Amino acid sequence: MKRALPIEKTNIILDQHAAAPLYRQLYERLRAQILAGQLEMGVRLPSTRVLASELGVSRNTTALAYELLLLEGYIESRVGDGTRVARLQSSLLRQAGKSVKKPSRQPGVKSPLAQRGQALLDAERTGDIYSEQATSGTNPFRVGQPDVTHFPYELWARLVAKQARQALPDVASYQHAQGYLPLRAAIATHIGITRGVQCTPEQLILTSGSQGALDLVARTLLDPGQSAWVEDPGYMGARGALLAAEARLIPVPVDEQGLNVEAGRQLSSSARLVIVTPSHQFPSAVTMSLGRRLELLEWSRAAQSWIIEDDYDSEYRFSGRPLQALQGLDNSERVIYIGTFSKVLFPSLRLGYLVVPPALLPGLNAVRRLIDVHPPLLEQLALTDFIVEGHFARYLRKMRAMYLERRNTLITALTQELGGLLEITTPEAGMHLVAWLPQDMSGEYIIKQTTQQGLPILSLSTYSLRPLQRDALVLGFATSTPKELQTGVQKLARALRGRS
Ligand SMILES: Cc1ncc(COP(=O)(O)O)c(C=O)c1O
Repeated sequence: MKRALPIEKTNIILDQHAAAPLYRQLYERLRAQILAGQLEMGVRLPSTRVLASELGVSRNTTALAYELLLLEGYIESRVGDGTRVARLQSSLLRQAGKSVKKPSRQPGVKSPLAQRGQALLDAERTGDIYSEQATSGTNPFRVGQPDVTHFPYELWARLVAKQARQALPDVASYQHAQGYLPLRAAIATHIGITRGVQCTPEQLILTSGSQGALDLVARTLLDPGQSAWVEDPGYMGARGALLAAEARLIPVPVDEQGLNVEAGRQLSSSARLVIVTPSHQFPSAVTMSLGRRLELLEWSRAAQSWIIEDDYDSEYRFSGRPLQALQGLDNSERVIYIGTFSKVLFPSLRLGYLVVPPALLPGLNAVRRLIDVHPPLLEQLALTDFIVEGHFARYLRKMRAMYLERRNTLITALTQELGGLLEITTPEAGMHLVAWLPQDMSGEYIIKQTTQQGLPILSLSTYSLRPLQRDALVLGFATSTPKELQTGVQKLARALRGRS
């Protein structure tokens, strides 16, 4: 049920049943109204207590929303003067106002967007399909970001320059929708050896990162309203691609063995597809057990459903036996494998790939040509040399050792400072870990504590569509030096100990 309660100059609509927590919705609505000038600079806001009672929400909800606004400089608070809308620079306001438009669903106002576009915008505003916090520069535990400072840019520049001079003139016209064949061959060899993916270069389609791959697959394989399983908690980018294709999302719980296939069967046994991260579940960091892999393959074979295997960061495996990719275990041609260079090289390269069963190639290629024809070729040429000349393998070895050291530093520091409070897990792969909170402690509450201390960290519930029985902190370790991680943990410990 939606409730609309007028407070001075505002009309705040909060949806108790939305996936985004109430505090987040309230923060988004107030922020949008400040940026749109509906809440004028200097105007006094009601106290958290008054606002909470007018909206019929807990004081915690309003306090949390105000704290986020305070932290980001949208409001100011002075003892004796209450809370007021900050006097933002008008240029800043104009700029920000461009991306944050008036709140949606205002009565009588038609959205300039299609319903689908509006739904995606709303989902992004409420943090359902994108989280700024995860990638924020102020977070020493950034999630999903590699360390890009050690990449050999000079070498890369030489390869790009050489290819621009020598090879580009021959491939400057429109190229094959699937991308540069020698690069596809180099990738096929690499994932054959390291991931047990069985494919020929002809089965590879180069895309604009994994996001481009997820989008292409969702557009091509799903009709509006068809069901798709998503891991819960799970990757927002996957949910976004499915929403853009107007799929019906079926959140399937994840446990210590990965996606719970039996739960998925009970929720929607004939779902059209599932998007999974078996090597290193995002965000719980669990490696899917062999039993579950076989169960998932069996389900997809029987239901004739597709498995979309997002293998986004499995190159960073530190311990444990590397489990072969689902694609290599599949003998029914139901698995579509996705890889990306975002984590192993750098995200702005925007190169990823799909490995698809041959039967899907004509359809995917047709759709691909209509989206963007093919990714830019110059980077593909340079990347081919980077792999073939051995730089890729060398860089990967170096970064793996660096991330292993960072992972171990983070675990040691967390154990020393917070071992009594958090249950710290050791991920076998990837660039982040989870630290379980005590049963009775909510992630929302912790985010509040840490945000107050300027540490905008995330919890599993940030990525969840349904309430979790137990929450955990999601801590990236790739972008910070060991020293920075230690300092970050001390700050985190102070924030958590400051709890009442
Ligand atoms: C689960 C998952 N898949 C894929 C990606 C990478 O996306 P892209 O290749 O589009 O940069 C990420 C990045 O955070 C991720 O967490």
